Amino acid sequence: MNHPKRYTITAALPYTNGPIHIGHLAGVYVPADIYVRYLRLTGNDVAFICGSDEHGVPITIKAKKEGVSPQDIVDKYHAIIKKSFEDFGITFDNYSRTSAKIHHDTAQEFFKTLYDKGEFIEEVTEQLYDEEANQFLADRFVTGTCPKCGNEEAYGDQCERCGSSLNATDLINPKSAITGNVPTLKQTKHWFLPLDKHEAFLNEWILKGHKKDWKPNVYGQVKSWIDDGLRPRAVTRDLDWGIPVPIEGAEGKVLYVWFDAPIGYISSTKEWAERVGKDWEPYWKDKDTKLVHFIGKDNIVFHCIIFPSMLKAEGSFILPDNVPANEFLNLEGNKLSTSKNWAVWLPDYLEDFPNQQDVLRYALTANAPETKDNDFTWADFQARNNNELVAIFGNFINRVVVLTDKYYNGIVPAPSEFSQVDEETLASIKAYPEVIASSIERYRFREAGQELMNLARLGNKYLADEEPWKVIKQDEERTKTIMFVALQIAAALATLSEPFLPFTSDKLKAILSVNSNGVENDWKDITSNKTLLPAGHNIGKAELLFSKIEDDTIQKQLEKLEASKKANEAANKKVEPQKDTITYDDFSKLDLRVGTILEAEKMPKANKLLVLKVDTGIDVRTIVSGIAESFTPEEVVGKKVTVLVNLAPRVLRGVESQGMILMTETADGKLVFVNPEDENVSNGLHIS
Ligand code: MF3
Ligand code: ZN
Repeated sequence: MNHPKRYTITAALPYTNGPIHIGHLAGVYVPADIYVRYLRLTGNDVAFICGSDEHGVPITIKAKKEGVSPQDIVDKYHAIIKKSFEDFGITFDNYSRTSAKIHHDTAQEFFKTLYDKGEFIEEVTEQLYDEEANQFLADRFVTGTCPKCGNEEAYGDQCERCGSSLNATDLINPKSAITGNVPTLKQTKHWFLPLDKHEAFLNEWILKGHKKDWKPNVYGQVKSWIDDGLRPRAVTRDLDWGIPVPIEGAEGKVLYVWFDAPIGYISSTKEWAERVGKDWEPYWKDKDTKLVHFIGKDNIVFHCIIFPSMLKAEGSFILPDNVPANEFLNLEGNKLSTSKNWAVWLPDYLEDFPNQQDVLRYALTANAPETKDNDFTWADFQARNNNELVAIFGNFINRVVVLTDKYYNGIVPAPSEFSQVDEETLASIKAYPEVIASSIERYRFREAGQELMNLARLGNKYLADEEPWKVIKQDEERTKTIMFVALQIAAALATLSEPFLPFTSDKLKAILSVNSNGVENDWKDITSNKTLLPAGHNIGKAELLFSKIEDDTIQKQLEKLEASKKANEAANKKVEPQKDTITYDDFSKLDLRVGTILEAEKMPKANKLLVLKVDTGIDVRTIVSGIAESFTPEEVVGKKVTVLVNLAPRVLRGVESQGMILMTETADGKLVFVNPEDENVSNGLHIS
């Protein structure tokens, strides 16, 4: 599409079962926001659309776990997520939610239209059922082995390892996520979208069409699914949380979350249009509208196959021009995980790094998982800040502004004759908008961000080479010219940084008095012959744009992660169920004593065993204990322990053991002596 009349840009609707973390920001929202800000700066008509995805099983599960209603959960996280987006400068035109009436109406109407057109197959089939929970098991209510890749933790609708979209009945060894039971089969009626029927269209549109400019990861996945053959997919569910299926005979059934959620893009657009007094339809129905979906890779099948099939079946909608899905971001070498609390949550980040949203935006862009999974490390974050934002961008701006203040009282000096280097420098500034734009338009945001930094590098190098602080001593006229050129670079940075570093851009514009005092620059002005900061223009005072992040700040973040890893291990440690009841008589048969270990040595040729001499108060006896992998003999000598003294003696490797020392095993599998006050010993651990 050469010159679209308008753009509809969507960002995946986040599930409202937790706050937003850096993975979401890096994969979807920062790139989408860079793209949209760029489009707006270049004078385009854009609708940037998002909202909360409030249906679906993870929300129901979270509500059950916390003993509250699903509505409570979505209300809580909708507010938190919406605020995070605002805090990080993600400039949606509209942020809606799928529990909104306008969305229920829109989704039901969409379903009804397809239903009336005969686009569904209505069929009674056997579905997985949990007899104990009294519930059908679909989607995330069931896990099992993926038939395609063997991942044992695949979900009923999708395998996160290989990305396959699945039907719950495809899973090998299915298990209920509610009770852990093996499901039975039970008949139920559902409505299916016959994806097989749309195969020819998808083939034509994506494979034969011009979608070769889609990112290879997206195109490749889609091609392999189509090549594998598509099957009908149920778009209704037997659940009580969701949008009721709007036809007779479907009582108690709701729309499949992945049927309603993408329609959320449409309802959010409607909500926006109503609010600002526009017509929503051209944004979804005019062939001159460019529709782009920003998503993460686990959403590819839904945005490239299922939603387009729905739109096509409906008949009046346009299809996406591109679906620039990103791969995943890892954190310090491990997969980001909401449930395992392995994440950097945006509200936490802001608390620890107030007003430093741009640093995170920049680090995530510089390291975006565009073509492969990537790792976020705090060390890289620190380096991006200290070595690039502070040392290059911030340093350049600071020098320019401070010197202008010092030499000229903050007034842009008039240049005299330009040297060849000056001419070249001014010409290179003009080239940057094109260079950055071309990267952005090809969805290469890392590259675009680096080009922006290259412009700051150019500024730094220009000052270092021209040395106005030395020249001023001999040649005031030349100094004016140097400072004039440097100020033009600063002004270009103020405008070009906006998509990437919006807060910094605002600050910088304020410092340079750009977009006030009669100076107004947009993206195209930088390329034109216009002088960005004319002689005589009064700029403001210097203000630090970035500040150095010290090692101990980074260390604290690493410790935070370490703590969450520990807490998680402890929480995941299975608490064994209680054994059968015993009588007091049974209990009183145990003779437990306090003892002290006097001597300890390794049992020859046995990895696990220590031979101990223990003072039990009654006598000093030998006890063979299986603790050699957790303790050295030196570590246990002198320890006070609890001893079961009347356990029948047993011969181990030729040594008679006359009792047992009570131990427990911590979350990380280490044996420790029984001491409930020990911080590694948690409730429910077995003593044996
Ligand atoms: N909630 C989904 C997720 O977080 C994304 C939904 S995108 C939409 O993976 F298209 F369905 F809205
Ligand atoms: Zn798989």
